[in-house]
Amino acid sequence: TAGRATAVAHPNIALIKYWGKRDEHLVLPRVDSLSMTLNVFPTTTSVRLAPRSGSDMVTLNGRPAAGEALRRIVDFLDLVRERAGLAHRAVVDSENTVPTGAGLASSASGFAALAVAAAAAYGLDLDATALSGLARRGSGSASRSVFGGFAVWHAGPDAGSAEEADRSSYAEPVPVGDLDPALVVAVVDAGPKPVSSRAAMRRTVDTSPLYEPWAVSSQADLIEMRAALLAGDIEAVGEIAERNALGMHATMLAARPAVRYLSPATLTVLDSVLRLRQDGIPAYATMDAGPNVKVLCRRVDADRVAEAVCVAVPGGAVHIAEPGPGARLLHG
Ligand code: DP6
Repeated sequence: TAGRATAVAHPNIALIKYWGKRDEHLVLPRVDSLSMTLNVFPTTTSVRLAPRSGSDMVTLNGRPAAGEALRRIVDFLDLVRERAGLAHRAVVDSENTVPTGAGLASSASGFAALAVAAAAAYGLDLDATALSGLARRGSGSASRSVFGGFAVWHAGPDAGSAEEADRSSYAEPVPVGDLDPALVVAVVDAGPKPVSSRAAMRRTVDTSPLYEPWAVSSQADLIEMRAALLAGDIEAVGEIAERNALGMHATMLAARPAVRYLSPATLTVLDSVLRLRQDGIPAYATMDAGPNVKVLCRRVDADRVAEAVCVAVPGGAVHIAEPGPGARLLHG
């Protein structure tokens, strides 16, 4: 075994959303999803093997991890240890450059980097598909950050054993035509989430009468999205992404009790995106488990879109992202 390794990974934003699991332990989703990996806010994670006894030592941005964050990382390391047939504890150091509260899931870049670094440190020889499936076990969206550019995460077939299901749910790159996209990230509120996405997903699947219809329409959205990406049709890509995201939020609003991540500032940004479209600028919004808005547009329009969004939410921060690279080993 290498004994130590360092890896870097970037966040991704879903254009067709992952919302709902069919197996919580294995992190098997109810629907396929599709995302763009960003070129900003990398997470760099190093893993070093330690003696067999004792416990894992995990540091996140210079502070010891605790609670739920630590438990998820230790569970993930247990899985890597089981596969490697090694009992060594690990020293994990992770530096995340996502600005606090930027509304970009750091779990995606975090578990993608951890999967790549831990697999190398424990001597597992895994290809990108297997690394994606492994990252998935830490956080579903991390399966997509293993790849750069656009990636689709397959839910995988329902039938068969748990092992088979585990093996057949992974992400892979999606072919894209002549598209020069940017994603303008509008941070309207840096506060913590009212409900974790994990808990919110569970409640939505269990109680929302709108969940099943959205899951069915999402499958159709995915097929249309793949065609739109291949055609390099930014208007179609944006329209499909926006309706898919709004539909996902509708499933949450119909949950009992409702899960609402969207705030008045979110709607103000959505209004500014509509105005951009009325002015002939293709700009389309998507929102995740928080009030922040990511606006998909052409790269040539990104400054103008960022400007419009800034005016809409004075005091908010705006970042411009483009497609970025997949997770990779730095050394180890
Ligand atoms: C709304 O991947 O954070 O961002 O698998 O429970 O860790 P877990 O959930 P996570 O959920 C992301 C949900 C989303 C949509 C998406 O990224 O597809």
